[in-house]
Amino acid sequence: MTEQQRVLGFFGGSGVYSMDALENPQRLEIDTPWGQPSDALVKGKLSGVDVVFLARHGAGHTLPPSNVNYRANVDAMKRAGVTDLVSVSACGSFRDELAPGTFVIVDQFIDRTSAREKSFFGPGFVAHVSMADPVCPALAFALATSCAALDIPHQRGGTYICIDGPHFSSRAESHLYRSWGCDVIGMTNMPEAKLAREAELPYASVAMVTDYDCWREHDGPVEVGLILETLKQNTANAARLIADLAPRLGATRRPSPLGVETALDMAVITPPEA
Ligand code: ADE
Repeated sequence: MTEQQRVLGFFGGSGVYSMDALENPQRLEIDTPWGQPSDALVKGKLSGVDVVFLARHGAGHTLPPSNVNYRANVDAMKRAGVTDLVSVSACGSFRDELAPGTFVIVDQFIDRTSAREKSFFGPGFVAHVSMADPVCPALAFALATSCAALDIPHQRGGTYICIDGPHFSSRAESHLYRSWGCDVIGMTNMPEAKLAREAELPYASVAMVTDYDCWREHDGPVEVGLILETLKQNTANAARLIADLAPRLGATRRPSPLGVETALDMAVITPPEA
């Protein structure tokens, strides 16, 4: 595979419900064998690059993290022709230096979710894709470069722990996750990243810090009211980041350095005759 037309897909999280900068936006109502995605997808152009956007929590933020149909969302993106997926989401921080407003270009995940469908495969057809390196380094590099160019405080790399929610963590859980070396915590990137890999879509994630979770001795608990304040600033920076990223990546693409586009070649274990 050489050069191919790029279609850049974005999952927007809390605070990122639309992409106003999209030129010639068109709503795509896509049904999937897994059910309905969170909303209609919106397809348009950004600086000459084809872009598809989907608000992960639905129009008006009506879907809690464990009610998002992640399989339908990823499959709808694939059906819309998306070639590269970028997640934008809010997160809590486990490090003093990752203050609210910092964008973490995540490169590892710990999946603590349980109440979610995590695979397109199941009884009758078994596949085990590798999740050793869950993030596409080329997408992550472009995201970090855009953050630097825009003076958005950011960290390249970091471990994101994903919990079911909708509750925030207890202090004991927060200390535990910190002791595991996690950098940030959120409620949506898993199983999204796993499903993206199964769909052979390169994936990268920008986790936008809204709070310090609840591990800091003199801080109060996480409260939505405080998060919403930071969310406004993060939403504005997310729009700037997306506008910079699209032309930086460009309208044509090369295969992911990880070979994500052929991830299933080595993953299916069910014999062809079964
Ligand atoms: N999203 C934003 N802040 C969070 C936190 N502290 N825990 C889990 N998800 C979050």
